[in-house]
Amino acid sequence: MASLTNKNIILGVSGSIAAYKAPDIVRRLQDLGAEVRVILTQGGSQFITELSLQVTSRNKVHDNLWDKEVELSMGHIELAKWADAILIAPTSANTIANLASGKADDLLSSVVLASDCPILIAPAMNQQMYASASVQANLKTLTKHQTLIIAPESGKQACGDIGEGRLAQPIDIAKQVGNIFQTTKLSGKKVLITLGATIEAIDPVRYLSNHSSGKMGSALSDACIEAGAQVTLVHGNISVILNQKAQIISVMSAREMYQSVMDNIAGQDIFIACAAVSDYSTKNIEKNKIKKSEKTLILELTFTKDILQAVCKLTQKPLCIGFAAETQNLVENAQNKLKNKGCDAIILNDVSRCDLGFKSDENEVLFLTQENSIKIEKNSKQKLGRKIIEILSEQFF
Ligand code: C5P
Repeated sequence: MASLTNKNIILGVSGSIAAYKAPDIVRRLQDLGAEVRVILTQGGSQFITELSLQVTSRNKVHDNLWDKEVELSMGHIELAKWADAILIAPTSANTIANLASGKADDLLSSVVLASDCPILIAPAMNQQMYASASVQANLKTLTKHQTLIIAPESGKQACGDIGEGRLAQPIDIAKQVGNIFQTTKLSGKKVLITLGATIEAIDPVRYLSNHSSGKMGSALSDACIEAGAQVTLVHGNISVILNQKAQIISVMSAREMYQSVMDNIAGQDIFIACAAVSDYSTKNIEKNKIKKSEKTLILELTFTKDILQAVCKLTQKPLCIGFAAETQNLVENAQNKLKNKGCDAIILNDVSRCDLGFKSDENEVLFLTQENSIKIEKNSKQKLGRKIIEILSEQFF
């Protein structure tokens, strides 16, 4: 079934009488789980009000390339980066011509040019216009540029004509957007992912932990589910809501995470160690709250087991992917980790940068194997997760 869970969709609405159906398209996209932002062209605004689209999308409608309040309204580059897909429905003959010729004289065409996500268009116009040589030539150009065309329906038109040019049904349009995210790259594969921060108790009140939010692991889980895999998540402390399609196991300490992974690793095809596991745990957990005193407090810590390394040593080892959060000698340290832990790939990120990594919604990583080093440019963790899974399935399956 098509799903748009966690997907950001831009709906472009251009000048066609079928624009009155745009709020219904917004709803159908939301039904599939999408967050929707609308870009309304000048032509579109002749047929549907900004307010109807704002109310249904629950977001400000974007209609101006030259908006000075970019902080409030998202500039066109931010909008382009935000989108996982751009759907233009209805797409007028004029918008089709603009897109085919690479024009950027309004917000919608500029966002399309600035984006690297899938573009879908649902043409809607008079049957004679749709059949015209120019529109058909422009559609051919757009198909060559990888734009997906949601074919119009045939039937009675608003102008009284009968023929091909009626906007496809909103529910079918939404489903076609959902379908582009359904892949079978990992279908039949079982994936176990660790994520979040472990918590090592000191006494009943205090603990040792770290800044991991679980966002990257959660994005990887979504991407694996999207690619058809059966996912098990073993998570520590997190600040994200996990995809309920996964089997979810909650743990606290590094020791519990180790045990849970070992109990569930048999039969897994892929193991992704995304958790920030504490390297040390307290030797003894105090039964009672440690009383404050002016004396120096010394905690005795013992080394925790390396879960990733332990999985890599199993005789029936799954494909193992680790993470390296580094602050210096990045590539060298990550390559050593790849070798010492015996994993198949390491995803390296620079945690010295305050705009990336821990807690942040964005990241930039290097996918390192013995043979390759692939840079994945700065993007949302959701998109990065998808890209990592795409590379992983290309490299190993
Ligand atoms: O050695 P370091 O902790 O930097 O390695 C990071 C990688 O190893 C991550 O993939 C992390 O999830 C994994 N790891 C683990 N068990 C530990 C420590 C790290 O699985 N005890």
